[in-house]
Amino acid sequence: MILRLHSGSPDDTFEIARLLGLSLAPGDVVALTGDLGAGKTCFCKGIGAALGIPPDRIVSPTFTIVTEHEGKPPLVHVDVYRIDTPGEAAGIGLDETLAGSGAVCVVEWAEKLGELLPTDCIRVTFTISGDDSREIEVSAPDLERFSGFRDRSRRFSARR
Ligand SMILES: Nc1ncnc2c1ncn2[C@@H]1O[C@H](COP(=O)(O)OP(=O)(O)O)[C@@H](O)[C@H]1O
Ligand SMILES: [Mg+2]
Repeated sequence: MILRLHSGSPDDTFEIARLLGLSLAPGDVVALTGDLGAGKTCFCKGIGAALGIPPDRIVSPTFTIVTEHEGKPPLVHVDVYRIDTPGEAAGIGLDETLAGSGAVCVVEWAEKLGELLPTDCIRVTFTISGDDSREIEVSAPDLERFSGFRDRSRRFSARR
């Protein structure tokens, strides 16, 4: 299932992410791709909100790659901005982190992980289309719980 959504503000991006968060289950990996300032960290905050995590706890870390947050389920926030290759990521055990557990795992700069990403991950790609505009493409497995997200996110649909 691929959805093309339009965000007109940081609040929209947060809300789209929160709605996706409601469909997530433990073990899910959400792979975020987009330029600096595209809204990846904002999206992490929205997913966190759905899991009961206060938005101000989720930050853009300068040197920390993996941050765990208590939530229902817990959220593992991964930012691989400072990693250059999938091999380097595996070297610090990120493959294990992604192989998951009871947590939802959200990865910023996910394209750097290449084949370390599970094939059934949820992929979210951001394109900056204006000062406050972002085009957000969400690709998720064809599962009932993601149909729920499709219905809930309809008002952000970019389809003409
Ligand atoms: N529609 C939008 N969605 C998300 N962020 C937006 C939007 N419009 C403007 N912004 C701004 O873009 C920046 C996004 O920052 P951030 O979420 O940290 O991006 P990233 O993690 O991708 O680098 C914030 O300063 C935010 O206010
Ligand atoms: Mg970020």
